Amino acid sequence: LSASLIVDPAFRVGAVDPRIYGSFVEHLGRCVYTGIYEPGHPTADADGFRQDVLELVRGLDVPIVRYPGGNFVSAYNWEDGVGPAADRPTRIDLAWRSIETNQVGVDEFQRWAGRAGAETMMAVNLGTRGIDEARAFVEYCNHPSGTAWSDRRRANGASDPYGIKVWCLGNEMDGPWQIGHKTAFDYGRLAAEAGKAMRLVDPDIELVVSGSSHSRMPTFGTWERVTLTEAYDVVDHISMHGYYQQHGDDRDSFLASAVDTDRFIDAVVATADHVRAVGRHSKRLTIAFDEWNVWYQSRFAGQENLPIAEAPALIEDVYSVTDAVVVGNLLISLLRHADRVKIGCQAQLVNVIAPIMTAKGGPAWRQSIYHPYALTSRHGRGTVLRPEAKSPSHETAAHGEVPLLDAVAVLQDDDRSVALFAVNRDQHEPMTLDVDVRSLPHLVTGEHLAIADDDPDAVNDRDHPDRVAPRRLAAPKVDGGRLQLVLPPLSWNLIRLT
Ligand code: AHR
Repeated sequence: LSASLIVDPAFRVGAVDPRIYGSFVEHLGRCVYTGIYEPGHPTADADGFRQDVLELVRGLDVPIVRYPGGNFVSAYNWEDGVGPAADRPTRIDLAWRSIETNQVGVDEFQRWAGRAGAETMMAVNLGTRGIDEARAFVEYCNHPSGTAWSDRRRANGASDPYGIKVWCLGNEMDGPWQIGHKTAFDYGRLAAEAGKAMRLVDPDIELVVSGSSHSRMPTFGTWERVTLTEAYDVVDHISMHGYYQQHGDDRDSFLASAVDTDRFIDAVVATADHVRAVGRHSKRLTIAFDEWNVWYQSRFAGQENLPIAEAPALIEDVYSVTDAVVVGNLLISLLRHADRVKIGCQAQLVNVIAPIMTAKGGPAWRQSIYHPYALTSRHGRGTVLRPEAKSPSHETAAHGEVPLLDAVAVLQDDDRSVALFAVNRDQHEPMTLDVDVRSLPHLVTGEHLAIADDDPDAVNDRDHPDRVAPRRLAAPKVDGGRLQLVLPPLSWNLIRLT
C-alpha cells in the first residue's frame, strides 16, 4: 500500500482548544469510589485520593474533567454531597442502581481536580430538578461570599470561589432512559431558563446545551434544531456523545469509526448554523463532544438487573490494540474539527470504560487506550493543519468506501515543529507514506512512535500492565523537503518533526 500527504502551514483549520483533551468522572461503578477516591489505600493522601491514580491522570495532561454525570446527574441532589461527611445522606442512585454514600461531593471533587491540574466541567440536574437548584449550585460554587449559598461553601472550607467556568445543562435529555427525559421543546425551554438564571448569578460561565446521545437517535437533527431554537441565545456549546464498538467480526467498519464521528460533527455544525441563520443570531456555537470512546455495550447487557450495591464493578471494558488505534483515530477526528470542537471528554477516566484501571487496595495501571490519548494530548497542541492526502480506500459495511489512511497535522506552539497523527486502517498490509513538507524547510529529523502489534487483540492487565505500549520505529529523515515512513498494518502513529 502506498499513500502520500502534503503538509503546508498555509492550510490551517484553527487553533487547538486544549479542552478537547478533557475527560469525565461520573458517580458510576468504581470511577469515584475505589477509582479516584479510596481512603485506606496505601497511596491515599489525607483526603482519601489515590496518588497512584493522580500520577497516571497527570500523565494524560487533562485540562478539564466533566462531573458528576452522566445519567447519574439526572436524579442527583448536589446538596447531599456538601457539609460534614458523617451527616450526608446515603441514597439509591437510580441511574446505575447503586448505593451512593455521598462521601465525595463538589468540595472533594474540586480538591481532587486541583491536584490533577484540571478544571471542572460541572453538570446540573435538569431531569428531576430545575432552575432553582441550578442557580443555587452556581451561587454555591462561584459567588465570592455574603449570601446563604456562598457562605455555606466558605463554612465547608473553601473561602475562595471555585470559578467553575463550564456548566452542562443536564445530560442526554433526548434519551428515553434518562430520568426526567423531555421532549426537545420542553428541554429547550428549561435549558434556556435555567441557563439564564445561572448566568445572572455568574455572567462569566460557559453553558453547554444537551445534544443527541448518538447519531442513530431517532430524534437526531430535529432535537438539535428544536432545542437550539429555544436556547440559542443563552448557550455557548452544544454537546454530542458517541461510543463505538466492533460488531461481530466486522473489524474494518470498527477501524473506520472516525468516519461516523466526522459525519456526526459535520451534521451538528450544519444544524447549529441553520438555527443561527433562521434566528438571525450573530454568535456561532461550538461543540462539546463531552462523551466519546470505545464501549462494548454488548458485553454489559443485563447489568441493569444486578442487585443494588455500593461501588459495584460496572462497565469495566478491557481495551485492546485495535481499540487503541480507534481511540487515536477518534482524536484525529476531533483535531480535524478544531475550528468548531472546543471541548472533548473521553468517557470515562478511571475503571468505567477508562484509560486507567485500579484494583481495590491494589495497583493502578494504564489500558492500551491511555497511550494515544496521552501522546495526542501532549503533542497535539498548537494549530491544526489540513494535510492534502492521497490514499487507497476500501469498502466497509457500516460506512461505505473509506480511505485506509487517516491523518492530521498540528503545527506546535513554537510555530516550527510539526506533529503528524496517522492511522493505517488496513488490517494486514503496511503502508508506505510519502510526506511532502517542502513548505516547512527547517524540518530535518524526528521520531516515529506507533501503537501496533502482531496480536491486535493484545491487552494490558494487572499482571501485564505494559504489554501494549507505544513502540519507537526508525527515525524519519527529511531529505529535500520530503520523507518516507512505513505505517504498520492496523496502527496509530505519531510522527514528530523538528
Ligand atoms: O458514560 C456512561 C454513560 O453513557 C453516561 O452516564 C451517559 O451519559 C451515557 O449514556
